Amino acid sequence: MTDPSDHWNKVYTAKQDQSLTWYQDHSAGALAAIQAHCDQGQAIIDVGGGTAHLVDDLLGAGLGPVSVLDISQAAIARSRARLGDRADQVDWQVADITDWTPGRSYAFWHDRAVFHFLTKNDDRATYVQAMSQALGAGGMAMISTFADDGPQKCSGLDVCRYAPKTLLAEIERQAPGGFDMVRSWRHDHHTPAQNVQKFQTTLLRKR
Ligand SMILES: C[S@@+](CC[C@H](N)C(=O)[O-])C[C@H]1O[C@@H](n2cnc3c(N)ncnc32)[C@H](O)[C@@H]1O
Repeated sequence: MTDPSDHWNKVYTAKQDQSLTWYQDHSAGALAAIQAHCDQGQAIIDVGGGTAHLVDDLLGAGLGPVSVLDISQAAIARSRARLGDRADQVDWQVADITDWTPGRSYAFWHDRAVFHFLTKNDDRATYVQAMSQALGAGGMAMISTFADDGPQKCSGLDVCRYAPKTLLAEIERQAPGGFDMVRSWRHDHHTPAQNVQKFQTTLLRKR
């Protein structure tokens, strides 16, 4: 397989945001969950944030400090440009989440459609290790993946699909006793071409 960063840089260079199947104007569900669990001044990280507008909404709500991490330099550059002067308020990190050590502690870890790309056990192990290190006790993780009846591929890459129960079981397998389930739900994402993708989202609290 080609270097994952090459794949993602090509995607973000070739396509405008509205042509990306995962595009959404706003992530109302993520913003609401973060607002419910974070006070102003508590650190939030959007893992594999790409060009998502969640960071805009978090800044607009006065939340943060906010970090956006993505393997694609092109995606980060586009988000920075979109935010203009406000980009300086964000900690931007170009990194592979399976090979990353947090430089600080976070209160909220948000991942929409990143964990499901980790088809190798070793990558899931290092991801969960990074998440465990990044969150303090009581910190929250919100992980959205394709549901068990969702698409088998995303952006041309194989994915692992999860029901809330199997996602929780995988996190528990990688970090025994590390996280409690807070809630989980299934939902539909309507792509810009109006196809429906089945997702699940699981909200976890670090012990
Ligand atoms: C399907 S997109 C979702 C983007 C964003 N979360 C959203 O909801 O719009 C997956 C994102 O994960 C990033 N990504 C994929 N593998 C990654 C990895 N190992 N480490 C960090 N980012 C990764 C990609 O560059 C891309 O931006």
